[in-house]
Amino acid sequence: MAESITITDNRTGEQLEIPITNGGVDAAEWRKLLPGVWFHDPGLATTSGTESAITELDGDNGILRYRGYPIEQLAQQSTFLEVAYLLINGELPDRAQHDAWVDDITHHTYLHEKFRKRMYDAFHYDAHPMGLLTSGVAGLSTFYPDAKDIEDPDNRMHQIIRLIAKMPTFAASAFRHSEGQPFVFPDNTLDYPSNFLQMMFEVGNPYEIDPALRKAMELLLILHADHEQNCSTTAARVVGSAHADPYTSVAAACAALYGPRHGGANEAVLNMLDSIESYSNVDDFIKSVKAGEGRLIGFGHRVYKNYDPRAALIKEAAHEVFAVTGKNPHLDIALKLEEAALNDEYFISRKLYPNVDFYSGLIYQSMGFPIEMFTVLFAIGRTPGWLAHWDEMLAQDSRIARPRQLFTGNEERSYVPMSER
Ligand code: ACO
Repeated sequence: MAESITITDNRTGEQLEIPITNGGVDAAEWRKLLPGVWFHDPGLATTSGTESAITELDGDNGILRYRGYPIEQLAQQSTFLEVAYLLINGELPDRAQHDAWVDDITHHTYLHEKFRKRMYDAFHYDAHPMGLLTSGVAGLSTFYPDAKDIEDPDNRMHQIIRLIAKMPTFAASAFRHSEGQPFVFPDNTLDYPSNFLQMMFEVGNPYEIDPALRKAMELLLILHADHEQNCSTTAARVVGSAHADPYTSVAAACAALYGPRHGGANEAVLNMLDSIESYSNVDDFIKSVKAGEGRLIGFGHRVYKNYDPRAALIKEAAHEVFAVTGKNPHLDIALKLEEAALNDEYFISRKLYPNVDFYSGLIYQSMGFPIEMFTVLFAIGRTPGWLAHWDEMLAQDSRIARPRQLFTGNEERSYVPMSER
């Protein structure tokens, strides 16, 4: 028997049976019985805004799958660009599709030099690179007015390739600007992570890319590539639902990611570890968190109520990176924090586990990335995910995002002239 739910309006005795489809109940059906009565769901914690076939996330069981493939398998066997193809096209590419995709992305890495220079010069030397990235991505929409034709799937794909290709160039450019160093142009003979590392770190002599660091970069990009309807993806979808072009929609996603509750958390973790200062202060810090004096950043997740599978993979990779770079001085504090929290009733009862950001910052720092670049790295990784959702939404018969509100303000009142207030 098909599953359903029956609701009764106790004001009228009227009943309505609503089928449960794909684990959800159709709000349009509820509305028939309850016109003018809205579902109140701040943070949209129990609301599905879409059907999606891209990423499956089972937070209770710590499962993350892109298009059905477990994150663990992709992390160990795939590459970032192959994962990007998978997210956007729905299937793994064959050799010819793969090579054409990689070739296309590799040959769209350049930014218009005048735009890049003028835009970055307009920012102060210590501008946060996420501010530069967000503005830069938004600015691209003025460069590619053809992107406004969002109804044409081929045109959408063209913009998707452009954006995935240009994100590392933007990111490295933002870093170079803040360091006062000359920009390093993309090298199209290199693979995606190597090219990015070279644009970031080459100074004077040719930059030798350590295979362990390249591998860690690839892994971190894969782990960040998508995470279904998170805050930034939702921002991209909301803006995209108004039929804004993809650059504007992805700029909105970057803006959401910038926040410390979301992509800014990896930066906040390092600041927290800095503020704890030493191993011996960990217990006092945990006490202060339990007393409500702050949060243990890098812990907790709206969806994962079990260990975040990405955090487990990153923790493993951290040791390979530290074997090359030397141990991150914050590692001991982080390990002790994790151990203390995982054994503490406060964190256990609230199902608070390390999330992706808890260890990623330590790796980034050891690789030489300044703290302000951490969220930018997240943005590069998440770009295929944002675009896959944007494209999926436009391929569906989507409606403009326009939630309701429960009005709690004043009833009608008359304007009082200033002299009488
Ligand atoms: N440290 C201490 N207590 C916490 C933490 C934390 N990191 N996270 C949640 N709690 C507590 C809350 O105080 C609350 O306790 P209460 O029931 O006694 O009031 C309970 O756990 C539930 O917390 P909510 O805020 O309702 O959880 P929500 O799902 O809304 O928030 C969030 C999720 C924002 C990720 C939260 O756990 C948090 O702030 N974590 C720290 C920031 C962080 O690491 N963000 C990165 C998320 S992953 C990502 O975006 C890539």
